[in-house]
Amino acid sequence: MRTYRIVTFGCQMNRHDSEHIAGLLESQLGLVPAEDVTSADVVVFNTCAVREGAEDRLRGQVAALKPLKSSNPDLVIAVGGCVPQHEKDRLLDTLPHVDVLFGTHNIPDLPRLIEQAASARRPVSAIPDDTDLDVDQTPSIRESRWHAWLPIAVGCDNFCAYCVVPYTRGRERSRPLDEVVAEAERLVADGVLEITLLGQNVNSYGRDLYGSPRFADVLRAVARTGVRRLRFVTSHPKDLSQDTLLAMAEEPAVCEYLHLPAQSGSSRVLAAMNRGYDREQYLDAVRRAYEAVPGLALSGDIIVGFPGETDEDFEDTLDLVRRCRYDQLFTFLYSPRAGTRAARMPDEVPRSIAQRRFDRLVEVVQQMALEKNSELVGRTVEVLVEGPSKKDPRMLSGRTRTNKLVHAPVPPGIEAASLEGVFVEIRVTEAHAWHLVGEAAGYLRK
Ligand code: 5AD
Ligand code: SF4
Repeated sequence: MRTYRIVTFGCQMNRHDSEHIAGLLESQLGLVPAEDVTSADVVVFNTCAVREGAEDRLRGQVAALKPLKSSNPDLVIAVGGCVPQHEKDRLLDTLPHVDVLFGTHNIPDLPRLIEQAASARRPVSAIPDDTDLDVDQTPSIRESRWHAWLPIAVGCDNFCAYCVVPYTRGRERSRPLDEVVAEAERLVADGVLEITLLGQNVNSYGRDLYGSPRFADVLRAVARTGVRRLRFVTSHPKDLSQDTLLAMAEEPAVCEYLHLPAQSGSSRVLAAMNRGYDREQYLDAVRRAYEAVPGLALSGDIIVGFPGETDEDFEDTLDLVRRCRYDQLFTFLYSPRAGTRAARMPDEVPRSIAQRRFDRLVEVVQQMALEKNSELVGRTVEVLVEGPSKKDPRMLSGRTRTNKLVHAPVPPGIEAASLEGVFVEIRVTEAHAWHLVGEAAGYLRK
């Protein structure tokens, strides 16, 4: 049996694309999953170009396969996703032992490209310039039995000055509402309990198809398929409608969790980033969200060290972060990306200053997350169990509707594995910044 291994970098869209890749390799090439990269006949890297770090790690991991390729010329190494889409064939100059390069829109071609490279014994690549193709419809093998990603739109029209995504994923294309609902219904019939709707900017969903955004309609329609939990990423503050917040509040399946990236707390920096809102508008969106959705957990993204960011701008960011009381915040050091507007901006922030600001932000975030989690001690939360804890098999791990990680001892007489994909009521006994600890309280239900 020939085997494969997929190594995925980056966002949820990439994780879902990897599920498509697995589906194609198994159904069209008859491959089976390998234990690890070193024992696989076909290795696929699904890459991310958003920040330099992921790209460096990719290069390191592909380079590490060189000796393996020399000893086994039948090994096929494929590199796909955002990095080749952005750099076209330049990757081959630095990593000549790669056999297949494919773009974000060539996933359906991958089996053919792999066969072609294997028989021709020379590298093949297929990366179209035209990134305006449809959302991928290929079969997929889900990472999880009870959770599914459901893309509702791909691509992005926003051109934030720092971001490479509009270049790697192309313009925003939405999938028709009835198609999205039909896929959700199939997933629910297949036993899926939790669906995450995916899009670079879910709030503008449907603008290309229907003339105006219809994200609230998608939320309501998918919520009514019988799915137990419905999540979505990513929301753009400039397009967050009251209608969407109402749908979140009114539809019981929609989780009270909102990922709303601010990127900065300074109006001056936000304008330079081309975000389409200022500090006050962002704070207003957050106020509206907390008001409309009881028990809301808020998360966000912040970039530190954008070109021209002053100490004062950064103090504005710290102040905004404190005011928003995030449950979770993803913090990034600015990383210049070739071809974006920001990469050509003057006034680069020295690395040491950016790092100092970053460390201060992380400290604030940690303290804030701990404060918010502490409010849950003594309360009972609904947890969807993911399985035994990775660190301690006597503990189970799962997530609340608000996406908080919870650990609790496996109840006596119960097999930990049997609780995977089961809802358990857990009484919270301890709060930490990034997780909660509790004990199973009362009953378990499917
Ligand atoms: N540098 C640093 N962070 C970035 N992000 C996107 N592009 C860059 C960049 N060039 C961050 C943003 C975005 C998240 C997915 O990654 O915060 O919301
Ligand atoms: Fe990138 Fe901005 Fe589009 Fe998000 S909204 S994908 S940050 S361009």
